[in-house]
Amino acid sequence: MTVYLNGQFVAREAAVVSVYDHGLLYGDGIFEGIRIYSGKIFRLAEHIRRFFDSARAILLELPLAPEALEEALQEGVKRYGKTEGYIRLVATRGPGDLGLDPDKCTAPTLFFIIDTISLYPEKFYLEGIPVVTASSRRLPADGLDPRVKTLNYLNNIMAKVEAKQAGCIEAVMLNHRGEVAECTADNIFIVRDRVLSTPASHCGILQGITRQTVLELAGEEGIAARETVLTRFDLYTADECFMTGSGAEIVPVVRIDGRTIGSGCPGEVTGQLRRAFRRLVGI
Ligand SMILES: Cc1ncc(COP(=O)(O)O)c(C=O)c1O
Repeated sequence: MTVYLNGQFVAREAAVVSVYDHGLLYGDGIFEGIRIYSGKIFRLAEHIRRFFDSARAILLELPLAPEALEEALQEGVKRYGKTEGYIRLVATRGPGDLGLDPDKCTAPTLFFIIDTISLYPEKFYLEGIPVVTASSRRLPADGLDPRVKTLNYLNNIMAKVEAKQAGCIEAVMLNHRGEVAECTADNIFIVRDRVLSTPASHCGILQGITRQTVLELAGEEGIAARETVLTRFDLYTADECFMTGSGAEIVPVVRIDGRTIGSGCPGEVTGQLRRAFRRLVGI
């Protein structure tokens, strides 16, 4: 593993932050999860852009310019040495006092960890996974815009707990209007009559970089795709369903709230997109 903390590469034991850090005390911070495939950082420009957008949205002034951060990440990947891996990039408001006031924080904390990623078992990709709808909803944009990738994941974690209590590994989260938003750490897609649909940005989702990649791949593969409003009815009556994320890539979903999706096996369009994705990242 390789760790960078506040301007320097440090040993794991030296990679420590203050208990006064507002990232820890209040979840006041942002992050990115990024894949390394064949020694290259996947969609780095998009991740950097989203990271800086998140920072701007929460008035967090990052201590590095985008180019300098990119350089540090590239240097980190070199030091890491392996060709496959995962980068967790985090910035917090930094150490402050015990109150909420962000102006009391002296300087932001910025770190990244490059390490191996624990992948889902191959079985999930071959057979698909069951999911349930969680009662924990995605936060509305006028509370905390889900496009900001913040360190506040507690409602997603509660949804994950509900999934696990139901014997699943993932849950579908709805928005405050009861429309489908996304999974706890992944975006969601359905296929019906060979048309791909995914909740639009205004449904209260994180604009996933894998989601965007899949939409682009669909275009290249001649698969019609739309960003729209989906309800649970649309999920239950879909021919295929899958979720996307940097860690998970593309995972087929074959059961939702006890309803079998399509034939109960990963679908054709899902397979086509998975193959296209794997070609793109060179695996
Ligand atoms: C809530 C949520 N939705 C979707 C995603 C997928 O985004 P990406 O494809 O950029 O990894 C993530 C990733 O962490 C997430 O946390």
